Amino acid sequence: MGEPFDSELTGKSSTSNPHPDVTGRYYIPGFPIGEGKTDYEKYLRTPELLSLQKTPAESASPEELLFQVTHQTSELWMKLMLQELKHLVQAMNEDKLWVALRSLRLVHDCQRILIQQVDLIGSHISIVEYGKIRLVLGQGSGMESPGFNWLLEMAPKLGEAFDQLLVRRQISIRQIYTDYHNHLELHTLAEALMDFDDLFHKWRAHHMALVARTIGTESHSLKGLATQVLQKGVKTRFFPELLEIRSTLTNESGVAYGGQPLSS
Ligand code: HEM
Repeated sequence: MGEPFDSELTGKSSTSNPHPDVTGRYYIPGFPIGEGKTDYEKYLRTPELLSLQKTPAESASPEELLFQVTHQTSELWMKLMLQELKHLVQAMNEDKLWVALRSLRLVHDCQRILIQQVDLIGSHISIVEYGKIRLVLGQGSGMESPGFNWLLEMAPKLGEAFDQLLVRRQISIRQIYTDYHNHLELHTLAEALMDFDDLFHKWRAHHMALVARTIGTESHSLKGLATQVLQKGVKTRFFPELLEIRSTLTNESGVAYGGQPLSS
């Protein structure tokens, strides 16, 4: 393969470019874009990646690509999250809290992308088109998502690693929150775990809203009545002790608060 780049852009001399009037393209006309000829494509394996979606002729609906891309990219982000959560557990076990926090920050940002993705598909997929896509899903359900199920298996391990950390440091969750100025590292980690839990919960809530606007709240899905199945998930929290401490401290301070009207 000869020099693929347009010499007008790269400044490299090329006798094979008969079209100097480039308007932003990088390759010389006729270069086989997408056939795995460049290092970029070889490294990213774009020919395989871009062949993992149905062609327009194979698709049940023009919106099936949106459906496939959203799910496939979600699996990839969850794959990255899983790797980072493994690093996080290892870092907590080794008492490397800043390393743990660094992994958690990346996980949070992946979770925000996943929330955006369910919002995106909810805003753009039409009810009628989804009806056509649904017919070609076989018995497939999001509940079978490998990424999601690996994450569900991983979450309790974070709680265990955090509990063991507290035992090693001889400190309780209560102390971390009441005396947070003196335990900033642990307090920040506890709040970051809370963020992970919150963002997971938010994904489920956004996904439930997406389901409500796409197939409705009364429809029967493969796994039963869709909203009932999903409501159970929305109620699930990974770190109940981290939620409880908020109620405990609020109720304790509420005694002093006493609910008296403000004086004018
Ligand atoms: C048109 C878009 C979508 C529809 C209509 C839809 C519908 C549903 C329904 C009805 C359920 C309940 C289980 C069942 O009956 O199958 C479910 C669960 C699930 N879906 Fe979706 N979904 C959509 C998009 C997505 C996307 C983009 C993802 C991203 C990975 C996803 C992942 C999941 C997961 C992980 C569950 C289990 C949820 C939980 O345990 O809380 N879904 N989906």
